[in-house]
Amino acid sequence: MKILVTGGAGYIGSVLVPELLKAGHKVRVLDSLIYNQNPLLLHFIDENFEFIKDDIRNVEAVKKAVAGVDVIIHLAAIVGAPACKRDPKLAEEVNYTGTVNIVNACTDSQKFFFASTGSVYGKVEGICTEDIPTNPLSEYGDTKLRAEQAVMQAGNAIAYRFATAFGLAPRLRLDLLPNDFVAKALREKYLLIYDKDFKRTFVHVRDIVRAYIFGIEHFDAMKNEVYNVGSEKMNRTKEEIANLVRERIPFEIEYAEKGIPDPDQRDYEVSYQKIARHGFDTEISLEKGIQELIDGLNALPEQGRFSNV
Ligand SMILES: NC(=O)c1ccc[n+]([C@@H]2O[C@H](COP(=O)([O-])OP(=O)(O)OC[C@H]3O[C@@H](n4cnc5c(N)ncnc54)[C@H](O)[C@@H]3O)[C@@H](O)[C@H]2O)c1
Repeated sequence: MKILVTGGAGYIGSVLVPELLKAGHKVRVLDSLIYNQNPLLLHFIDENFEFIKDDIRNVEAVKKAVAGVDVIIHLAAIVGAPACKRDPKLAEEVNYTGTVNIVNACTDSQKFFFASTGSVYGKVEGICTEDIPTNPLSEYGDTKLRAEQAVMQAGNAIAYRFATAFGLAPRLRLDLLPNDFVAKALREKYLLIYDKDFKRTFVHVRDIVRAYIFGIEHFDAMKNEVYNVGSEKMNRTKEEIANLVRERIPFEIEYAEKGIPDPDQRDYEVSYQKIARHGFDTEISLEKGIQELIDGLNALPEQGRFSNV
């Protein structure tokens, strides 16, 4: 199949694109490279790989990128509550309007995957299934939710609401909670944690890639629905994540009762039963991913652009 991956040079894209090529697909990436990253350089030699350096806010560039592909995996976004808070106008233009540009450029027969987020739920009581009311707390969650709605209204689409990703990737992000905890534990030997009992939910970046490959294979049975993607085994508190890291490396943890609270006030538990009913489950545990991060970050320079903020 011919697949367009917007934002294919990002954290998830840099793991997804090589796997799609390996599976025999032709892959076109549309990415404006806002972090000056270059994780896909090795693929330029591959005749099944095509790269367009442009912006999803550019309607003409979007039309060209979408033309002739069978599947669109839309990842491009300003990602995370802090990055969106820093520039809410940009977040609106990219996350919402950019998505609408892609939707408008698509034909009815093109299969659309939207990368949504658990951030659309906000702070909720009880367990998040896909049909509870959404209550985003941040510009990030709000722009992503409206974009998700635009995609689903157009049809022939699947929206995946991902848990927080973790694990190594060619374009690494250390601003994701497990990655951040491991980096601070290794480098600063100290971690200050607000709201330690807040429950969050996680998924390894390679399981996100598996979810896309699964979705392409099962599109007709799954289409026109929203799915949480993660694992109930990885609904964990921040304190539990910190302890998983401390079982492997020594460092000091301080729990803050007062002071500046975490700006990301998500505290939620998520059900992954809907996608499980189609036969999808994650494979990589937090324990395994944390060990991978410890080993990998030891081999990484301390300086570098490994964050969206
Ligand atoms: N990583 C997570 O934990 C997570 C969780 C839930 C959902 N998601 C969603 O998955 C997608 C990918 O996330 P990620 O972690 O890989 O983020 P990322 O920031 O690493 O990647 C985003 C990519 O989009 C590109 N981009 C940004 N603005 C663009 C524009 N205007 N035009 C073209 N390209 C642009 C960036 O250059 C980057 O390569 C996002 O849509 C995000 O909302 C991620």
